[in-house]
Amino acid sequence: MAKTAVAHRCSECGWTSARWVGRCNQCQAWGSMAPHTSTPSRGSVAGAAVMSAARPIRDVPLHEAASTPTGVGELDRVLGSGLVAGAVVLLAGEPGVGKSTLLLDVAARWAGGGRRTLYVSAEESAAQVRLRAGRTGALHDQLFLAAETDLGAVLTHIEQLDPELLVLDSVQAVTVSGTDGVAGGVAQVREVTNALVRVAKQRRLPVLLVGHVTKDGTVAGPRLLEHLVDVVLSFEGDRHSGLRLVRATKNRFGPADEVGCFEMTEGGIREVADPSHLFTSARAEPVPGTALTVTQEGRRPLLGELQALVAPSAAQTPRRVTHGLEGGRVSVILAVLERKAKVRLHNKEVYVSTVGGARVVDPAADLAVALAVASAAAEHAFHRPLIALGEVGLSGEVRRVAGVERRIAEAARLGFGLALVPPGSNIGLRGMRAVEVGTVAAAVDLLQLRPPKRRDPEAPRLRLAE
Ligand code: TYD
Ligand code: MG
Repeated sequence: MAKTAVAHRCSECGWTSARWVGRCNQCQAWGSMAPHTSTPSRGSVAGAAVMSAARPIRDVPLHEAASTPTGVGELDRVLGSGLVAGAVVLLAGEPGVGKSTLLLDVAARWAGGGRRTLYVSAEESAAQVRLRAGRTGALHDQLFLAAETDLGAVLTHIEQLDPELLVLDSVQAVTVSGTDGVAGGVAQVREVTNALVRVAKQRRLPVLLVGHVTKDGTVAGPRLLEHLVDVVLSFEGDRHSGLRLVRATKNRFGPADEVGCFEMTEGGIREVADPSHLFTSARAEPVPGTALTVTQEGRRPLLGELQALVAPSAAQTPRRVTHGLEGGRVSVILAVLERKAKVRLHNKEVYVSTVGGARVVDPAADLAVALAVASAAAEHAFHRPLIALGEVGLSGEVRRVAGVERRIAEAARLGFGLALVPPGSNIGLRGMRAVEVGTVAAAVDLLQLRPPKRRDPEAPRLRLAE
């Protein structure tokens, strides 16, 4: 007979310890350790049954990983080309970002293709989901709705309905009877996910799971889940703007650097196939203190606008305020402008902001930030719309950035004909004039962004008539 070992196990995360401790060493939960009896395994596992015989790699049929488009183009872009049979996809995001709204839309479109779809809500009542579906136009004959919080019940629904897609909202709200721990705790979440992964693979059923993350990233969550599922999508957005981005952080079937854009509206979630207009203010002519650039989200180029305001200040240390940009980065650019391009800012307040609540961390936007500030300081706009690309170094040089070709192509698509680019960028695109600038000072001179008395008459200027 196998000997039984007595230990203490954490009811939250499953960590075991030979002696009792007040606080779990792994998940740091207090008072979660309880006596636990386990039977050690028999030791030998040889001769166990196999799922299917190993076969030469060429003989493995490809159709097993073929995907079906969901009908939501922006989601398909991120997934690769759609949902793969048996794939488990986790959509992780903060509460209120719109996960339920998005997945209800996906479920309705899937059902619209004549496929039985099961939406299980463990957080909201069926009536609540029905109400939302009515508002967002997600009512469909093939869309089935169940409100359950017990995993066993969810599995029974799958058995009875035999759906072609399962949406579970959310994985943290479902519990397994017989497993320790609170709903949403590590042990429960692991158990629920493992069971669903098993069912998905057996039935070749695609599964979309909702997972919550909190701002500090604690609670059982997506961190642990990431290892168990095939695809992890993170759903991000600013509560104050309607824009939502879905990006793949793990994808076993496709690229992991695509971004899908959505907008939250009164009538539900809407795809934004062409997001560039969201980040610019619609003005035909350049105004002082603005500059345009093309940033990259994953592999996706996005037009972005930087705005700056420079005002006289009598304070010892004039204010520098940034919105949507990293303050430290802007400080570096201001110092470079002051020291290397002779733009006087030490006695000025400087405000720099993005448009549309965009967060710009891409260093390729540096040159545009510099030009927006220089333009604001000189109260002088460029003569025609242009795109500025380049990272600014401490010695005032303009450095190369990744994906210049893709960015310039996007600018050309949006109707721009002129771009300032880092040296050696080698752009040959019809209808686009790419001017290489080696330093911030050269760019400032080229665009004549200096007060008239500081202008260098010898400096080369951009002949704008060309
Ligand atoms: P929800 O999908 O419930 O978020 P999550 O499931 O991620 O917690 O969406 C929550 C927010 O979205 C809520 O504050 C209201 C807003 N919303 C809209 O703006 N339009 C809509 O059509 C819907 C259904 C929600
Ligand atoms: Mg929800």
